[in-house]
Amino acid sequence: MSTRAARTGKTEGCRGVPVMPRRRRTRRGTFLPPAPALRTRDTASTDSGDGGDGGDGGTVDGRRFRQALGTFATGVVAVTAADPRDGRPYGLAVNSFTSVSLDPPLVAFCVSHTSTSWPRVRAAGEITVNVLAGRQREACAQLASRGGDKFAGLGWTASPSGNPILDGALAWLDCAIEAEHVAGDHTIVVTRVLRLDLLADGDPLVFFRGAYGSFTAGLDALAEAVPAP
Ligand SMILES: Cc1cc2nc3c(=O)[nH]c(=O)nc-3n(C[C@H](O)[C@H](O)[C@H](O)COP(=O)(O)O)c2cc1C
Repeated sequence: MSTRAARTGKTEGCRGVPVMPRRRRTRRGTFLPPAPALRTRDTASTDSGDGGDGGDGGTVDGRRFRQALGTFATGVVAVTAADPRDGRPYGLAVNSFTSVSLDPPLVAFCVSHTSTSWPRVRAAGEITVNVLAGRQREACAQLASRGGDKFAGLGWTASPSGNPILDGALAWLDCAIEAEHVAGDHTIVVTRVLRLDLLADGDPLVFFRGAYGSFTAGLDALAEAVPAP
């Protein structure tokens, strides 16, 4: 069965997992490796501009795939941990964060197999999710960089798990890793929330079409947009 499913199923990384699992059966909680029938190809320099992607039933244009996913506005979190041996902080910016379950309290995010910070964060056992505020663009860009001291110049205090809570974050959640599912070039990490707190008022950091933005629809804007009954 798994061979047939691998032939017919469709799987895509990170934001698109899983996408249109056509005639595909998987055991609960188990994701198959990327199906060979669906590939992404990068046509940054050869885009035909015909606007049709995936119409041939087997190939998705990688660049347009990313563009399409970029139209889905998200918040951004920083997933952090401290090395239990020397307290050194590690972390990465993540916009694939999502709530999963209220009871039990579960949240999830996707991590690229190429992340060099994730193995260090994961090794801490418990991780901390920081919900980033609009004013934390620079901190976010720093945590999204590769190499060097990502926490240089960033203020933080330790959560009960001992992990960095970034100054200015809107909220934090201490989490224990519950399950990990390999999905294409990412791993879906499901975590159980152990403790949390709301820290600050303010707008969230928004990521849209590859750029940072802010959330403008406050209560005043809503009052203007929605006519009173
Ligand atoms: C707005 C934004 C969102 C990101 N979301 C993710 C994500 O969901 N998963 C992921 O693996 N990397 C994501 N990244 C990339 C990581 O933050 C980081 O750049 C990457 O892990 C490389 O750094 P590392 O080698 O230190 O891990 C995101 C970057 C930015 C700027």
